[in-house]
Amino acid sequence: MRKPIIAGNWKMNKGVEEAKNLVNEILDIELNKDVEAVLCTPFVDLALVKEMIKDTDIKLGAQNMYFEESGAYTGEVSPTMLTGIGVEYVILGHSERREYFKECDDTINKKVLSALKHELKPILCVGETLEERQEGKEKEKVRTQIEKNLTGVSEEQFDNVVIAYEPIWAIGTGVTASSDDAEEMCAYIRTIVGELHGENAAQKVRIQYGGSVKPENVKEIMGKENIDGALVGGASLEAESFGKLVNF
Ligand code: PGA
Repeated sequence: MRKPIIAGNWKMNKGVEEAKNLVNEILDIELNKDVEAVLCTPFVDLALVKEMIKDTDIKLGAQNMYFEESGAYTGEVSPTMLTGIGVEYVILGHSERREYFKECDDTINKKVLSALKHELKPILCVGETLEERQEGKEKEKVRTQIEKNLTGVSEEQFDNVVIAYEPIWAIGTGVTASSDDAEEMCAYIRTIVGELHGENAAQKVRIQYGGSVKPENVKEIMGKENIDGALVGGASLEAESFGKLVNF
């Protein structure tokens, strides 16, 4: 059985004081223990948030990392720095990083392999643009990303891999993919993982949907067979709505 995973992606929001307030409010909410709740905070909040959640089941995630362990890479954060403060998950290849910071498939692949090597669980984001969907190329796009970004990942490692299908046109726009479209793509992703990495990997890998997930639509999305979780931006920035997402 794949454990459902609801991850909040705070993006570039919440400095230390705001993070403290938000996490305090989240700690007042009783969260369903059968669902894995993950907070993916900015780097500067990670140590503080870890301290605050250490006696709970809430997991900590980063939003990016570099693939090297240390060295002359000004401005970067390494996997060992993350594991050193108790980070368990790391979002990799988010569309905002691909678009604004020009991260390419090869770099993302190196990051995924490095994360797994250092016992961090990657949340690998894939998804098509609106233009690609309108041209009927969404599956081709996602297949290429899955092929390239997960090259070299072994079947056993898929225990620790999360894939987030995030159609770019649905991120932060209020437009959610229909639950049927989301399910269709998530099922397709599972099929590709099976083809490339074996049926075991396909059954183990957890696949999230992301893009304008909110308390009002989370239940329907989570009801789909191949959707094991959600990666949530906007609606994760308030305790009450994050609580409702986890307790879908
Ligand atoms: P959103 O963001 O929930 O605000 O659409 C999702 C994401 O980018 O991970």
